[in-house]
Amino acid sequence: MPTTLPEVLISEDRIRVRIAELAGQISRDYGDRDEIVMVGVLKGAFIFLADLARAMTIPRRVDFMGLSSYGRGGAQQSGVRLVMDLRESIEGQHVLVVEDIVDTGHTLHYLLDTLFARHPASLKACALVQKRSRTVADVSIDYLGFEIPDRWVVGFGLDYKDRFRTLPYIGTITPDE
Ligand code: PRP
Repeated sequence: MPTTLPEVLISEDRIRVRIAELAGQISRDYGDRDEIVMVGVLKGAFIFLADLARAMTIPRRVDFMGLSSYGRGGAQQSGVRLVMDLRESIEGQHVLVVEDIVDTGHTLHYLLDTLFARHPASLKACALVQKRSRTVADVSIDYLGFEIPDRWVVGFGLDYKDRFRTLPYIGTITPDE
């Protein structure tokens, strides 16, 4: 485990400002809808989702999915498996998937496919950060906080071996293996 504090990549202030902008944009875009369902992807999205949902001004409910992946890495097709499903049906609902990071894009691709098959009224995706240079899956992100370089990032929900998730900023570390 790295012993020094992660180097700041995106400060707490920049994240706060960007989340307020995204919340405003989403609230305007969905302004004429009765309600949206925000689907957070555990574990990483819990902090971003909490801040984003509270900054929004339209009726919304929150649900979660748990996914686990294996064989991750590069352009290799990664396997993604559903380990915890939504509590409620999304049929006929306006659904916004909320992710902390899109890396290869396999997780988001799997998620959008899975949710689309349940016949939502609409389906969009929001991510706090994307490593665009590593994204190989065919995914479109409707609302993106920041594009980031291909570094190991932690904080604001993102982890290294399940640590650093509650760091209030996004930082970079050098993994120790
Ligand atoms: C992270 C992140 C995304 C996924 C993105 O989850 O939360 O769900 O990886 O990677 P991809 O674009 O290459 O598919 P992780 O499996 O690390 O689980 P966690 O959220 O519990 O940390």
